[in-house]
Amino acid sequence: MKTVVVKIPGYEYSIAIGSQILSQNLSEAVLKSGTDFVIVVTNSSLHKLYPNHVPLCLEKTRIPVETCILPDGEQYKNLETLNQIYNFLLEKRANRKTLLIAFGGGVLGDMTGFAAATYMRGIDYIQIPTTLLSQVDSSIGGKTAVNHPLGKNMIGAFKQPIFVCMESDFLKTLPPRELKAGFFELIKHGIIHDSSLFSFLREHSGALDPLNLSVLEQAIESSCQVKARIVEKDEKEKGLRATLNFGHTLGHLIETHTNYSSYLHGEAVGVGMVFAAFVSYELKYLTEPTFQQIISFLKPFITPVVLPSLNFEAFQELIMHDKKFEKDSVNFIMISGIGQSFIQEDTSPKLLWRIFKKFIESYPWACQVQNN
Ligand SMILES: NC(=O)c1ccc[n+]([C@@H]2O[C@H](COP(=O)([O-])OP(=O)(O)OC[C@H]3O[C@@H](n4cnc5c(N)ncnc54)[C@H](O)[C@@H]3O)[C@@H](O)[C@H]2O)c1
Ligand SMILES: [Zn+2]
Repeated sequence: MKTVVVKIPGYEYSIAIGSQILSQNLSEAVLKSGTDFVIVVTNSSLHKLYPNHVPLCLEKTRIPVETCILPDGEQYKNLETLNQIYNFLLEKRANRKTLLIAFGGGVLGDMTGFAAATYMRGIDYIQIPTTLLSQVDSSIGGKTAVNHPLGKNMIGAFKQPIFVCMESDFLKTLPPRELKAGFFELIKHGIIHDSSLFSFLREHSGALDPLNLSVLEQAIESSCQVKARIVEKDEKEKGLRATLNFGHTLGHLIETHTNYSSYLHGEAVGVGMVFAAFVSYELKYLTEPTFQQIISFLKPFITPVVLPSLNFEAFQELIMHDKKFEKDSVNFIMISGIGQSFIQEDTSPKLLWRIFKKFIESYPWACQVQNN
C-alpha cells in the first residue's frame, strides 16, 4: 500500500492507495475518528454494483451504519439532491459525532463533502473515490460543491476529509470512457508540475487497455503527491492552486456550450489541454519540440469535440463566465515546459479567440466548430 499525507496548516490527513486495502484501512480510520454512527452516501449504480460493500467492510467495528442512496449523474449534483442527504441525516438523527462516507465518483464526493461541511455547522467525512478522476483529483484537497442552474460548482465550501481510501480494484468496473476521461487529469498533473510523472505515463501509455492496476497505482500516487503539495501551499486557491485549472478554460467552454450532455469533463479538459499547450506555444513560452511532444502524447487519447457554432461574443461570454466575473480578462494557465506551469493574469479574450480560430484550423482532430 502507498500512503500520501496532506498537511494543511493545523490539520493533516492521509490518502491510502492500493489493491484490497479498503476493509482494514477504513475500519481503522472509522474507529480512530471516535464516531458512534456512520452514514454512507452513494448512488443507485454503485449500490447495484457493490451492494452493501462499505457496511460489510465496517462490520467488525460494530458501529451502526446506514446508507443514503442518491440518483446517479451530474444532473443530480444540485441543491435538491443535497437536501435528500440532509433529510436522511435528520431522519436518522445524525448528530455532530456522525461520520459521513462518500462512496462513488467526483459527483458523490463533492456533494457528500458539502453536506459534511454544512450539516450542524460541520461534521467529519471520509472519501472512498471509485473513479479514476476522483482518485487522481476530486477526492483530494477539500473542494466541495453542488451546481446551480446558472453555473457549475457555484455553491460550495472548503472542507477537508479526515481520510481518503483509494482502492484501485474499483477501477475494474469503471467504463473505459470514464477511465480515459480520468486519465487526462492524471496527464495534467504531469504536464503542470511533474515531468517524471509525464515520462512515466508516456512509457506506460497502454496502462488503460488492458487495465494495469500496479502502473495506475504508481501514477495515482504521484498525482496525489502533486495535488497534495499544491493544496498544502494554497488551500483556498489564492494563486498556485489555480494552475490545476490547466486546460479548463476551453474545457469548461466545451462543457457549457454543449449543455454538459455530449462530453465528459475529462474529455473536454483533454481538448482544453491541447489548446492551452498551443496557446503557450503561439505566445512563445513553449518550444516547438516540447509542444509536439505534448500533443503527440495526447492525440491518441483525444475524443474529438464538435461545438455548435460560436462567434467571438459567445466565446468571450463563455470563458468569462468561468468564475471570474470581476474582470474583463481571464487568468489563463500556461506552460513553459513539461512540469512547468504559471498563471498568465489578464489574458485578453480577443487574443485567445484569435489563437482559438487558428487552433480549430490546425487541429480538427481535437476540435471543430459547426458552421464557422
Ligand atoms: N472537488 C474537486 O476538486 C473536483 C475536481 C475535479 C472534478 N470534480 C467534480 O467531479 C465530478 C466528476 O467526477 P467523476 O468523473 O468521478 O464522475 P461521476 O461521479 O459522475 O462518475 C462517473 C460515472 O461512473 C460511475 N461509477 C463510479 N465509480 C464506478 C465504478 N467503480 N464502477 C462503475 N461505475 C462507476 C458513476 O456512478 C457515474 O455514472 C464533476 O462533478 C466535477 O465537478 C471535483
Ligand atoms: Zn478537472
